[in-house]
Amino acid sequence: MSATGLAGRRVLLGVTGGIAAYKAAELVRRLGDAGAQVRVVLTENAARFVTPLTFQALSGNPVRTCLWDESAEAAMGHIELARWAEDILVAPASADFLARLAHGLAGDLLTTLCLASAAPLHVAPAMNQQMWANAATQANLALLRSRGVGVFGPAAGSQACGEVGAGRLLEPDDLVAALAATRQLRRLAGRHVLISAGPTYEDIDPVRFLGNRSSGRMGFAIAAAAAEAGADVTLVAGPVHLATPAGVNRIDVRSAREMHAAVMAAAKRADAYVAAAAVGDFRPLEIAAQKIKKQGDGGMTLQLTQNPDILADVAALPRRPLLIGFAAETEHVEAHARAKLERKGLDLIAANQVGGGLGFESEDNSLTLIGADGVTPLPTASKRELARQLVAVVAERLLRRDAERGAGRA
Ligand code: C5P
Repeated sequence: MSATGLAGRRVLLGVTGGIAAYKAAELVRRLGDAGAQVRVVLTENAARFVTPLTFQALSGNPVRTCLWDESAEAAMGHIELARWAEDILVAPASADFLARLAHGLAGDLLTTLCLASAAPLHVAPAMNQQMWANAATQANLALLRSRGVGVFGPAAGSQACGEVGAGRLLEPDDLVAALAATRQLRRLAGRHVLISAGPTYEDIDPVRFLGNRSSGRMGFAIAAAAAEAGADVTLVAGPVHLATPAGVNRIDVRSAREMHAAVMAAAKRADAYVAAAAVGDFRPLEIAAQKIKKQGDGGMTLQLTQNPDILADVAALPRRPLLIGFAAETEHVEAHARAKLERKGLDLIAANQVGGGLGFESEDNSLTLIGADGVTPLPTASKRELARQLVAVVAERLLRRDAERGAGRA
């Protein structure tokens, strides 16, 4: 793969203590060949394997190893260094470093920089195959992945310790290609993407509400994928139990009217709005101030009124974003979705079957993207993977819209 996309890129290379640290010296050269500006930070243990002087000579920049070095801090403080970085790559990343990173420790310069920087973080693990396979290491990796940290490798093969298995550092050329690939995926850089997710709760009284079974997972996965693709992401979330994806600006709401207000405020500067929330269509006409009591043996009637249609209101904005709606249906999925696409004046609708273990509460999903110009099926996959595919379609549509507007002006 070509390493274009790294030209002029400011890459902070972190090197941790493992025998594979010697390969990081070659990596500095390869990153330089790809046009990146490289600054290197070694952990104290890394400096036992390769000297700072080696990296200084190869990168052409001073190398730092310690948080408490007064002269280095005077030249470029650690916060400045964290801000300087456009990408952080830690290669090799030891099991100990991954554990500290997963738990947010900041006891040395490199972990402090990782916490203090908003730059995309990538790690290339390298360790003995048994350490790699250990449940603790795998759990740390899973946690880091769930926060959006990119994991490159490891490769399998013979190891410096004489064992054979997974845990070898990827070769420098492969690491450069992997880093370059993340740049090519950043197709939404400079775009603002607004996403609504989860259910809405419509209060009946102080203890009861009308809600629905949306978990918010699909919308959160789209927010994560959009952030990965470099977008500035605003996520308006109904009441859900999900962690905020890395780099996403989250606004929590409860009712449809609160969601309406938050979405309308953000929609004015959005390039695309993905309406993945399951918004309650109705709310009680009045919210009782006190818990409603049973009245004898009789039933009770709840009077409902309609909520605003958020998508329709965004569609009516003078400078409307690209609009992607969701149609969760239990039957006649495609026909209902098509009708909704036209009625709401959307650019795309993502239709899916819900009920029977699919859709709302499951990890997997499948979607059919329907636009005026055709249908794209996205077959069953994890919500994360589907979200990436959906985001790729959104990026493509935005480019097409820009081209059409450009042609319109010409
Ligand atoms: O008409 P229906 O509610 O099935 O439409 C679903 C789509 O419309 C979803 O994208 C949902 O987020 C959006 N919606 C909305 N405001 C509502 C109801 C639904 O934006 N009040």
